[in-house]
Amino acid sequence: MSKTKSAFFCQNCGYETPKWLGKCPACKEWNTFIEERTEKTPKHVVSFSKSSQAHKAVLIQEVQKSEESRIALQDFELNRVLGGGIVRGSINLLGGDPGIGKSTLLLQLAIKEQLKVLYVSGEESEQQIRMRAERIGLDNPNCFLLTETNLQQVLDQAESLQPQLLIIDSIQTLYTESVESSPGSVVQVRECTANLLRFAKQTDIPIFLIGHITKDGTIAGPKVLEHMVDAVLQFEGDRHHIYRLLRSIKNRFGSTNELGIYSMQGNGLLPVANPSEVLVSIGSESLSGVAIASMVDGIRPLLIEVQALVSSAAYGTPQRSSTGFDVKRLNMLLAVLEKRCGFRLAAKDVFLNIAGGIKVDDPAIDLAVAMAILSSNADLSIDKTISFAAEIGLSGELRPVNRLEQRLGELEKLGYKKIIVSKYSKGIKGHKFQIEIIPCTKIEEVVRAVFA
Ligand code: TYD
Ligand code: MG
Repeated sequence: MSKTKSAFFCQNCGYETPKWLGKCPACKEWNTFIEERTEKTPKHVVSFSKSSQAHKAVLIQEVQKSEESRIALQDFELNRVLGGGIVRGSINLLGGDPGIGKSTLLLQLAIKEQLKVLYVSGEESEQQIRMRAERIGLDNPNCFLLTETNLQQVLDQAESLQPQLLIIDSIQTLYTESVESSPGSVVQVRECTANLLRFAKQTDIPIFLIGHITKDGTIAGPKVLEHMVDAVLQFEGDRHHIYRLLRSIKNRFGSTNELGIYSMQGNGLLPVANPSEVLVSIGSESLSGVAIASMVDGIRPLLIEVQALVSSAAYGTPQRSSTGFDVKRLNMLLAVLEKRCGFRLAAKDVFLNIAGGIKVDDPAIDLAVAMAILSSNADLSIDKTISFAAEIGLSGELRPVNRLEQRLGELEKLGYKKIIVSKYSKGIKGHKFQIEIIPCTKIEEVVRAVFA
């Protein structure tokens, strides 16, 4: 009897080693190695008819120049995030937490666009998908469903059907007989993706893959796939809120600065055309503890409402909690306000909330967070026509932010009158907007300008 071949794989990043390791040398995660069989069974090599075409080396000058050909989509958010439509022959990965709406987004793509689509699901039954499709609204007469997990079957069907788009929900449920490990393992996921990649490049059929992100190690994280695919999109948001952000993390055919915003409704995901309008709660009265941050995510300007509640701590240790903003950063800002600006916050409970359950990485939100806290602490409201954009340094200084022009444009569109930024921001002078810019260097100056 021959010995079976196996190796250990990091379930987080796909690093391979012949021996078990406690810590992955590549991604530094602990306890992520699992033994998988790596044997290939030669009689079961995945095939499709065009796979025997050989390529010849050509001179780079002789390569035909062509714009990559794209399929434009009606879903303008997805279209933009992809860089102007789906590139033919590309392979795209959509990742995100369970229940966030990945299947919904791609099913919507399958049934709303006027394309011949093959939607392969290894997770739900045909009836379930049909029901969901009815709920979203079935508009495409050319959408085919296949509930299958065997890669060879999927490729055979795709080859005979010749769709314009192939969607796989999810890559972790697919398996190929050419490797012996179980579906969802790093080896399987890698092998299936490699075959799909070959299929996409040779048939020019674009493919969308759904990939789960789980930390528990039994399912391979899509990290393994990120290197292989052309584009990686990430779907994120808070499951208890309706807003979802679609980001592009990698895109061989476009920029990664694009951001798409959807709201999850009873009848599917609706693109949000003017996110700032919905993220800032409308209402004329000014409340204390609310400040408007002017953010830029990627290249997209956004206005976000920051809400804070400061109250005397009921118990010994004050509580600090935050939704949508890093608690460590909140603690840092509180320490700066206490130590550098003399506000007494050490004995107060501080709760912070970013409206809409949205998480944004732009450090320019710092000033709005600090001002919301001070506003709640003093119970003085901030005029609703003022917005903030500055990072706060450890000595309480305001630091400049980038893309001021875009922020001003967005603010003006929504009727804001003033913005407070760092004195050192570029583009304070000589811009074309009506909005008043108040340059400040320290938090105290901002407090004087706002509450005076
Ligand atoms: P789903 O797309 O299955 O998430 P994923 O594939 O990322 O795991 O759907 C997630 C949630 O969306 C589900 O809990 C129900 C909700 N939902 C709506 O609110 N409206 C809808 O129209 C649909 C189809 C789903
Ligand atoms: Mg799903």
